Amino acid sequence: MSNQQQPLPVPYLRLQNEFDALRAEWMEMIGEAGQSGAFILGPNVRMFEQEVAAYLGCAHAVSVANGTDAIELSLRALGIGPGDKVITTPFTFFATAEAISKVGATPVFADIDPDSFTLDPSSVRNKIDTDVKAILPVHIFGHPADMDALGSIASEHGLSIVEDGAQAFGAMHGGKQVGTQGYCGCFSFYPTKVLGCYGDGGLITTGSDAIRDHLIKLRNHGAQSPFMHDELGYNSRLDEIQAALLRIKLRKIEQDIAARIRVADQYDQGLADLRLVRPSRPANGRHAFNLYTIRHPRRDAMRAALKEANIGHSQCYPLGLHLQSVYSQLGYRPGDLPVTDRLCGETLSLPIFPDMRKDEVERVCEVVRELG
Ligand SMILES: Cc1ncc(COP(=O)(O)O)c(C=O)c1O
Repeated sequence: MSNQQQPLPVPYLRLQNEFDALRAEWMEMIGEAGQSGAFILGPNVRMFEQEVAAYLGCAHAVSVANGTDAIELSLRALGIGPGDKVITTPFTFFATAEAISKVGATPVFADIDPDSFTLDPSSVRNKIDTDVKAILPVHIFGHPADMDALGSIASEHGLSIVEDGAQAFGAMHGGKQVGTQGYCGCFSFYPTKVLGCYGDGGLITTGSDAIRDHLIKLRNHGAQSPFMHDELGYNSRLDEIQAALLRIKLRKIEQDIAARIRVADQYDQGLADLRLVRPSRPANGRHAFNLYTIRHPRRDAMRAALKEANIGHSQCYPLGLHLQSVYSQLGYRPGDLPVTDRLCGETLSLPIFPDMRKDEVERVCEVVRELG
């Protein structure tokens, strides 16, 4: 048997230690839910909604089944539908645009800023016409979008803003949490997210009582009272078992975000002086570092090197949504959104999670540095 040491493999994400640490508390809460028989829209969902609204600093938080529904229900609650257009970013997970299409509206893709990877306000401005009803910025990878500039454009043109904060729970713009500056803020609790459950879950924030009431109706089949329906809704509810877990994890969310930022700081130091571009930090806010995404001119060679070294990574995103075949009827061509097109050929996301060890970050840096 060889006693040569194997280089350290690094996973893209590791959740086992966290699960072990909170297993006993969660199991006890599941036991209580089982005893009470309240599995849907019960006390844990109600308490989580109150606790998360207090954390985020918003008037109302309405939980739903996942982040995609959060966006779709928000657009429905704002009355956006067929004939309407919504300006968004093509550099995001498909769900953002899918939700716009599913309410019958048309996504209009604007270009992004090459540093923050979020919507470029000047490109948004160029896309406005009389059918545009809303702007849907995405706080991509945990970096807050430029809400000041987007907010000014929205108020100038009487548009609503729906924030997609699926990847950015706990990120801040100015002194405020993302997801609290538009009409609605949408979050995903998919397991890989900054606040993730062990299944699917989502949340909508709003400052409006009327929108809150409408969302509560929409998530439960459009029922205004038991068995009475005056519009089509959804079966989109967070279950008690996930809500119990989210309550536990919310209590340590600041620690988790601080740990993510520590990993990002270590990467920033370990990857300094290379040809690659490290993630930018918001000038006036906080990056939640759901992902640590670099740009590298030899991205594909970098992927191959990481694969060879057994280091998890992800190509977020290989193709802008404007060029996906599902949207071919919209008529976008390569070059229409040049920053997005260029970044899709250069970006690569490295492992980042709260209990990532220093030696693991060092190992990733070592492999990345080999390509310069
Ligand atoms: C930017 C963005 N928007 C929306 C979603 C959809 O969230 P969910 O998977 O919970 O439906 C995701 C999830 O991956 C996302 O990353």
